[in-house]
Amino acid sequence: DSPLRDHAAQQGFEIGAALGADHLQNDSQFADLAATEFNASTPENSMKWSVTEPSRGQFDFSQADAYMDFAQANNQKVRGHTLVWHSQLPSWVENGNFSESELLSIMENHIDEVAGRYAGEIAYWDVANEIFLGDGSWRNSVFYETIGPDFVAEALRMAAEADPSAELWLNDYSIDGINAKSDAYYNLIQDLLAQGVPIDGIGLQAHLINGQVPSSLQQNIQRFADLGIDVAITELDVRIQMPASDSELQQQAQDYRAVMDACLAVDGCIGVTVWGIVDKYSWVPDTFEGEGAPLLYNDNYQPKPAYDAVHAAL
Ligand code: XIL
Repeated sequence: DSPLRDHAAQQGFEIGAALGADHLQNDSQFADLAATEFNASTPENSMKWSVTEPSRGQFDFSQADAYMDFAQANNQKVRGHTLVWHSQLPSWVENGNFSESELLSIMENHIDEVAGRYAGEIAYWDVANEIFLGDGSWRNSVFYETIGPDFVAEALRMAAEADPSAELWLNDYSIDGINAKSDAYYNLIQDLLAQGVPIDGIGLQAHLINGQVPSSLQQNIQRFADLGIDVAITELDVRIQMPASDSELQQQAQDYRAVMDACLAVDGCIGVTVWGIVDKYSWVPDTFEGEGAPLLYNDNYQPKPAYDAVHAAL
């Protein structure tokens, strides 16, 4: 059967996967699937602050460069991930007790170096990641505490300078349906647009629980698209209480299908990226105790019912 990327390409759609650096390098079955099935990708960790600038002013692009080589060799649209995030942030930033102006210049230097290095080669940057909490209030990151809510607009402007051709996005989890947190993004993006701040898209991570695709997913995608920005599903996985039964795997296939259909139904929803390829390398078992099997391929690299559902949607 023909790969997902062929069907996606025919309709100008992007089907992506998060690619882990060690798997790309050491697991040829993983790398083959990544290349064959996906026309877009995201570096799972390789462009995060702790990897690219582990100590102040000391940049290490070895992982990021290797990822870029792979993506470009395989004609994949690249989602840069991520410039400003409270997590996987080195302690020299988080605990540096910097003044507002110092932290702004640290942020600017980081964005200049990372986004600047790949300027012209990145389709979308997740400029700021996970800035709100579930109730729609601001997360107390070092950026928010030191700079205030303007750190987002500042980061977007800095990214626009560093890479004028990239689309600049915000990205978060639990904003897939209409709720207090996605309302906060809706309001913020309206404000940013009104102020002329460069903002091009919103990424719905969609780290989902089996059987719990929000019923308002399509409506939520539509309301962001109606603001004139792009939308994507950026980190899709559907986690199951382990061990996964056949009926749970069928449910998971339905969930994947529902997410694909919701995105495909809205002009302006440009693609769906899954957060990994094979279940055994997923971040889910490390993060959610007792849960797993969230992806399209099982531990033996065999396509699951979820794969067939994604294929059928395209
Ligand atoms: C995860 C990676 O998959 C793991 O390998 C890493 O240990 C932690 O981060 N939201 C995001 C992603 O934006 O960057 C996270 O990726 C998953 C949640």
